[in-house]
Amino acid sequence: MEFSVKSGSPEKQRSACIVVGVFEPRRLSAIAEQLDEISEGYISNLLRRGDLEGKSGQMLLLHHVPNVLSERVLLVGCGKERELDERQYRQIISKTINTLNETGSMEAVCFLSELHVKGRDTYWKVRQAIEATQDCLYSFNSLKTRKAEARRPLRKIVFNVPTRRELPLGERAIAHGLAIAEGISTCKNVANMPPNICNPAYLAEQARILDNDYEKVTTTVVDEKEMEELGMGSYLAVGRGSDNESLMSIIKYNGAGDDSAPVVLVGKGLTFDSGGISLKPGAGMDEMKYDMGGAAGVLGAMHSLAELNLPINVIGVLAGCENMPSSNAYRPGDILTTMSGQTVEVLNTDAEGRLVLCDALTYVERFDPEAVIDVATLTGACVVALGKNATGLMSTHNPLAHELLNASEQSGDRAWRLPLWEEYYEQLESPFADLANIGGKGAGAITAGCFLSRFTKKYHWAHLDIAGTAWRSGGKDKGSTGRPVSMLTQYLLNKSGTEQGE
Ligand code: BES
Ligand code: MN
Ligand code: ZN
Repeated sequence: MEFSVKSGSPEKQRSACIVVGVFEPRRLSAIAEQLDEISEGYISNLLRRGDLEGKSGQMLLLHHVPNVLSERVLLVGCGKERELDERQYRQIISKTINTLNETGSMEAVCFLSELHVKGRDTYWKVRQAIEATQDCLYSFNSLKTRKAEARRPLRKIVFNVPTRRELPLGERAIAHGLAIAEGISTCKNVANMPPNICNPAYLAEQARILDNDYEKVTTTVVDEKEMEELGMGSYLAVGRGSDNESLMSIIKYNGAGDDSAPVVLVGKGLTFDSGGISLKPGAGMDEMKYDMGGAAGVLGAMHSLAELNLPINVIGVLAGCENMPSSNAYRPGDILTTMSGQTVEVLNTDAEGRLVLCDALTYVERFDPEAVIDVATLTGACVVALGKNATGLMSTHNPLAHELLNASEQSGDRAWRLPLWEEYYEQLESPFADLANIGGKGAGAITAGCFLSRFTKKYHWAHLDIAGTAWRSGGKDKGSTGRPVSMLTQYLLNKSGTEQGE
């Protein structure tokens, strides 16, 4: 897909399709107004006859509008002008792209990027449009023998900006949007890959591909033997029931020389979570291939970061592992010694994510990080609490939590903070070990966060529970969402001090 920005008037465009907005009730946007004038009231006539109310997402495709050079005009309902917010803007763009893809227009000039969205500038509108477009056009069909190809797919899209002065801003937005979309697509591709292909070795291979493709990236892989030497007893226990070796990939991106403390991203990489001996019920168990969504998100963010070439240091860790039942598997009742030295009583082998992450979180102390953010499909309880809309954010460091919340606001990749108050820690007490791996009834997302926080005392830390946001369940729509790549990348953009206009 080819993107560009332009500043020009609609009547001068010679394109397969031009896209303009109509507000509710039947009110032309400024650009639609211009088209209406040169077409001598053709569009306002249609509206008067009731062909389009302007409700958000309504579409009306016109051919051969009088005096208009473009073959088609797509009128897009944008709802009430004063209510046009970020979410609605993104939805309108997505609908537009889907419609364009079906009309047979292989190129389009889109004026929706000129609509007024409360508190958002041209950079934001163009970048969001790019991300929404790429999200719409994504499909995972590498394992289908017969691929469904669109007949005349959309190839080229021009987003219009109001003034020539804003062209550089628009171009910067395209570059950023494409880099982020690329990371999102990487995330989706690995996350959607089935667990017989995507195992910990596959994750490590993807990490090595980044090393090959980018000068500033160096990847190393920690195998079980090395984990043994490091005393990662908890991580190793989880993988023991699987024939697939546990592998932890370390992706180092050096953009700021060797003296600058890195941001570390740690992703839960359970390439399949059967629950282990505490086996999960059968229904929907296939979706536990997405239990490596955290690792996929970290890989995607590292890809975007490398593409953006940001002047910061970042280390991505993919904690690859598979949780299976077998005669060699770890069991409820086992007491594990973690790399930190703390002991953990296993009460449920399905609470495995925290057991893998706690050792990975201890491992990353060696990097003297400026901040550590772990990303994990950690608890079903988080899905109960926040549904599929918001990622659960927990942190023991307020400034870091706020930076992440800001990034989520800016990117539209929503997160909501949950507390880690002292009183919740009691739920993790064990009669036999330093702590138990589950916290019993109530606040399951929080007690999982509390568990991790016992291993993150040496640095500033935040935890993102993406159990509800990493993928869409069920029928045809099933698939990875690519979240939270855009939130993480926004956070890194902010950290690097890269201004929108730079
Ligand atoms: N990977 C799951 C969490 C999960 C479940 C994510 C459903 C998305 C959808 C995690 O390893 C798990 O099994 N957690 C248990 C914890 C429980 C045993 C305390 C859960 O949430 O049920
Ligand atoms: Mn589990
Ligand atoms: Zn899991």
